[in-house]
This record gives sequence, structure tokens and C-alpha cells, in this order.
Amino acid sequence: MFAKLPDKIVTPNKDGSARVLAIANQKGGVGKTTTAVNLATAMAACDKRVLIIDIDAQGNASTGLGLEAPNRKITSYDLLIGRNNASEAVVKTSIPNLSLIPSSVDLSGAEIELIDADRREYRLKDTIKTILHDFDYILIDCPPALGLLTLNAFCASDAVLVPLQCEFYALEGLSHLIRTIERVKRAFNPRLEIQGVVLTMYDKRNNLSDMVAADVRDYFGDKVYETVIPRNVRVSEAPSHGKPVLLYDVNCRGSQAYIHLASEILKRERRLSA
Ligand SMILES: Nc1ncnc2c1ncn2[C@@H]1O[C@H](COP(=O)(O)OP(=O)(O)OP(=O)(O)O)[C@@H](O)[C@H]1O
Ligand SMILES: [Mg+2]
Repeated sequence: MFAKLPDKIVTPNKDGSARVLAIANQKGGVGKTTTAVNLATAMAACDKRVLIIDIDAQGNASTGLGLEAPNRKITSYDLLIGRNNASEAVVKTSIPNLSLIPSSVDLSGAEIELIDADRREYRLKDTIKTILHDFDYILIDCPPALGLLTLNAFCASDAVLVPLQCEFYALEGLSHLIRTIERVKRAFNPRLEIQGVVLTMYDKRNNLSDMVAADVRDYFGDKVYETVIPRNVRVSEAPSHGKPVLLYDVNCRGSQAYIHLASEILKRERRLSA
């Protein structure tokens, strides 16, 4: 498919269970889904067993991996309401080592349906327990909101990966996201960390991109990945072909950036587990 990443890296969690990363930012259209799909693909190409869980009613990660709505049988919604087991919902994608739990439009009502449910913050965590040993990495593609669905992702995760678009309003809402992560850590999930912040849609012709990148690095220090994802038309074309950009055009700048990002994240993961 494309060149494998050089590093041979051990699974980070010492008990052999998957590391679970929530890809979250309540701001819409910042590159959460694009990052989930392409990071997962790059990790899978690196011999990692990877699962994407799509918990966004928009279902963009599912579509972007070639699974259109009519073909989604058992979804993350079914897991959250307790209708099915996680292993029943896992489907293989056309990419070796990469599986998917698709989403359903029913998720748009799930937050209200789950208001009175037992352990409503832990529904996702509880359901994926049985499949944690089947994967090395589980990436959760979150919706653009900090409601119960994203809270479920935070409770089920080891760390949060925050995509941040290089634009004027990038930092707006970020302190709210950070406060939310800290609150979840205190109240529900003490192991939750910020894995890192990835700058997306960087445009080198635009001075503003540089200013935003500098501001974000000031604020987050080395939590910000060195790899920056450029704005690249091939990245935006790929989903309409039901493919990650890494399969659509492996040589484009967007693909190469996601390969670098995967390498950087896996190295950071290895340091965390050392
Ligand atoms: N590096 C990039 N270059 C060009 N276009 C991009 C890039 N990354 C993402 N896009 C495009 O920007 C749009 C938003 O990206 P994406 O769907 O990944 O964001 P999101 O945060 O998941 O959105 P939402 O909040 O709606 O779930 C999409 O049309 C996507 O194809
Ligand atoms: Mg999305």
C-alpha cells in the first residue's frame, strides 16, 4: 500500500489492552474526522491493530471509510443503549488492520434517551471492555459538542487528541475544552490526559496560520505535535471516494503529514509507557 513506518513499537498499555484516544474538539469542521481516519490508517500501515469508533451522528468517519448509511448494521448507538455487544458491531474496512464501529443518525437523540440510564457516562467504556484486547489502538471520532457522547468518549479513553484548525478563532473555546477535560479527570476518569494538539489545515501562504501556530505553541508548549497538517485539496477530495487520503494519493502533502503524525504519536506513546 505505502511504505511502512520505520519504528517497531510495542503496544503501550502494559496489560496488552488497547490505548484508547478520543479525538475531540467541540468546534465543528476542525479536522477531527480527517485526523481519526488518516491517523488510524497510518497506524494500521505500521502493523498496529486499529479500531475507529464513530460516535458522531453525521457518520463522516463511517462514510469516509466507505461504509454508507444503508450498509451500517450494528452501530455505536446500539452499543450505547445496550442493544448489542461491542464485538457484534465491529466491521472490517478495506484497509488491513483497520476496523470500524459505525455510527447511526439515531445518535442525534441518544443524549436525551440516555438521561436516565444507569452509568450514563460510562456506557461506551463498559461496552468496549470486551474488545480492548483485540486492538492496539482505538480512536474515537467525537461529535462537535461537549455533551454526553463526548463525555462517554472521555470516560472510555486514556487520552485526548485535539485537532486545532489554523484560523483566527482557533483558540476560542479551547479553554472550555481544557477545563472540561480536567473536570472529567477529577470526577470520572483520573487517568485521562491530553495526548497532544495537532494543528490542521495549515496554509503557508497565509500569515495568520503562522500566528495561530505560534500562539498555540505558546499556550500548550510541547503538547503540540511538531507535525503540522497542511491544507491540501487531496485531503478534502478523498472522503467522497470513501477512502482515507493515504489510499487516495499517498504521495500528496496531506498523506505524508499524517504518516509523520502517526510516527510522532507512536513515539510519544512509547515514551509514556516507558
Ligand atoms: N488538511 C486538510 N486540507 C484540506 N481540507 C481538509 C483538511 N482537513 C480537513 N479538511 C476538510 O475540512 C472539512 C472538515 O474536516 P473534518 O470533517 O475532518 O472536521 P471535523 O472536525 O470532523 O468536523 P465536524 O465537527 O463536523 O465533525 C472536511 O470537508 C474535510 O475534508
Ligand atoms: Mg467529524
